[in-house]
Amino acid sequence: MAIRCHTVENHHLTTDFTDQAAILLQTLVADGAALGWTSPPSRAEVADLLWEVVDDGPKDARLVIASVDDRLAGMGFWRRYLRPTYRPHADLEKVAVSLDFRRRGVARSLVEELVLTATDAGVEMLTLDFRGDNLGAEQLYLSCGFREYGRLPHFVAPDDVHRLDRVLHVRDLRPA
Ligand SMILES: CC(C)(COP(=O)(O)OP(=O)(O)OC[C@H]1O[C@@H](n2cnc3c(N)ncnc32)[C@H](O)[C@@H]1OP(=O)(O)O)[C@@H](O)C(=O)NCCC(=O)NCCS
Repeated sequence: MAIRCHTVENHHLTTDFTDQAAILLQTLVADGAALGWTSPPSRAEVADLLWEVVDDGPKDARLVIASVDDRLAGMGFWRRYLRPTYRPHADLEKVAVSLDFRRRGVARSLVEELVLTATDAGVEMLTLDFRGDNLGAEQLYLSCGFREYGRLPHFVAPDDVHRLDRVLHVRDLRPA
């Protein structure tokens, strides 16, 4: 299976692409994916998010998608922190792979490309966080060179009742 990863630029943000990205995220959230939403995001919300990331520009943010046979298989992005004293660093978010393409290396390819683009942009530390019950994400990030630097017990509230840990990972991208 040939996985192609590339950075999304303004001219890629067509109606068709936005529809596909919205369907991907909505389907995963409806399926219970821990992507930061408690219910599937609207198409408008997804469109705003994609534009925000792409508008930040390639030195400050990068939206990367993975395609298989011209189908959108997955996506993810990093963005520099807004706080001036955190500007050398960026946060990796919304790594999401279609249910049709799981366990075939799509997320690994995405994360590798996101790490590569962040390194090229001079990002010093790439952070991310995920929900404590997301063991797939944990294995993925550990195998991609991230390490746990903290864990906030019972921090994530997917609903009114449940509380899950927030796990914090970092990969240091500075040259050794
Ligand atoms: C987590 C997610 C991105 C993994 O995508 P994927 O394309 O299936 O992952 P890959 O095939 O690239 O897997 C790479 C490695 O991650 C780990 N991994 C991925 N999914 C896993 C799972 N369900 N259980 C255990 N380990 C898993 C494995 O170490 C795997 O390597 P291996 O297949 O050689 O054992 C995907 O399940 C997803 O989109 N989940 C919903 C959204 C989400 O949770 N995103 C992360 C939030 S930060």
